[in-house]
Amino acid sequence: MNHNDIQKRQAIIDACRRMNALGINQGTSGNISVREPDGMLITPTSMPYDAMTPEDIVYMTLDGECQGTRQPSSEWRFHLDILLARPDVNAVVHAHPPYSTSLSILEQRIPPIHYMVAVAGGSDIRCAPYATFGTDELSANAVAALQDRKACLLAHHGMIATGTSLEKAMWLAVEVETLARQYLTCLQITEPPLLSEQEIERVISRMANYGHQD
Ligand code: 13P
Repeated sequence: MNHNDIQKRQAIIDACRRMNALGINQGTSGNISVREPDGMLITPTSMPYDAMTPEDIVYMTLDGECQGTRQPSSEWRFHLDILLARPDVNAVVHAHPPYSTSLSILEQRIPPIHYMVAVAGGSDIRCAPYATFGTDELSANAVAALQDRKACLLAHHGMIATGTSLEKAMWLAVEVETLARQYLTCLQITEPPLLSEQEIERVISRMANYGHQD
């Protein structure tokens, strides 16, 4: 199997740079993976995105074995476990966006404050309990928080967005950060009223025929 698709590797680097340009990440705090037929491509650990070249992207098998000159992201465990647990996911974006991370520090989920919460798959965007970065425990918490969802917050850490493609995962990462910002803005005034479960279900079925479907 050839895992040297330069365009696929470059698309990961471009997305990393876009995360920082959009303000949803800082420095090298984020990491991105994309599914391969028998493993994944993932960003290397601690490497400035501007210095990354396609050769720096690490290929990892489903058994966690690496090919490449660099070490994989310290968060490779949750990237791999999400791809293993979720056949519907082809890309995983992890970042430390300011508003999502602020909510995660408060150990708060994003409740149904706006109908767009539904784009993450349900009536809220959960916040996974804290565990040390890079651990199996963090990975298990993330996979659980993503059950029936496409995104989650990680307590005292950041956010994960997934998608059927890298573009969709990036789009969702920006949307989650927007919702976190809206929620935190409301909280400065009062706890906002919420949409009902039933309304979110209605929105999800309408979205199936609209631009946000997969
Ligand atoms: P990496 O540079 O190892 O990808 O780690 C950054 C990070 O997000 C740790 O949570």
